[in-house]
Amino acid sequence: MSYYVRRMCREDVDQVTEIDREVFPTMWPPANYDHELRISLAHYIIACVDGKAAERIEEQKIVGFAGLWMMADEAHITNIAVRHSYQRQGIGEHLLIATINLAMEQNAHILTLEVRASNTAAQKLYHKYGFTQIDIRRSYYTDNREDALVMTIGDIAGALFQRQLRRLTKSHARKWGITGYHIV
Ligand SMILES: CC(C)(COP(=O)(O)OP(=O)(O)OC[C@H]1O[C@@H](n2cnc3c(N)ncnc32)[C@H](O)[C@@H]1OP(=O)(O)O)[C@@H](O)C(=O)NCCC(=O)NCCS
Repeated sequence: MSYYVRRMCREDVDQVTEIDREVFPTMWPPANYDHELRISLAHYIIACVDGKAAERIEEQKIVGFAGLWMMADEAHITNIAVRHSYQRQGIGEHLLIATINLAMEQNAHILTLEVRASNTAAQKLYHKYGFTQIDIRRSYYTDNREDALVMTIGDIAGALFQRQLRRLTKSHARKWGITGYHIV
């Protein structure tokens, strides 16, 4: 399957909301991506199936998305999500790499996120990229009072992380036949 990654726009909100409802437990208040797009600190990207026939943006099939909030030199990953039927095909990892690149472009040094204690799949992805758990927020999630693990990478601009990122990106590209990680 061929896909590309681009910035999210207004026309994508319905599909992104649909993916959110598909893969995340019900949250209150529900995520409002229309609102997110209007916040200047927020950066959202989507992975889109490369359907050459789909000329109109609304007809493009979105299979995943990720979001980042920039606060001074800290970038906070708000979401990474891939439609169920497209999971385990390297798209989540691609979105993470693109999000990290975006954070670096915005001159972030620290990268943080929260993840459900039970979400071992996502934790495995984050560990792979060097995130470590620094804190736990008890009963953070409103739907089931589940704990959130706070994970971070301390210095994404540092040589050590940069070397690791290059190695992981290369290995991901080789495995999935990806030719570039730029955001269209
Ligand atoms: C987490 C998520 C984004 C991963 O996306 P994906 O496209 O399926 O993941 P990839 O195929 O790119 O896998 C990348 C890595 O993630 C980890 N991973 C992904 N799914 C996994 C699973 N079901 N079990 C264990 N590890 C998993 C692995 O480390 C994998 O690397 P590997 O293939 O070298 O083992 C996806 O499962 C998802 O959308 N989940 C629901 C939403 C969610 O929980 N988002 C995270 C919120 S913090």
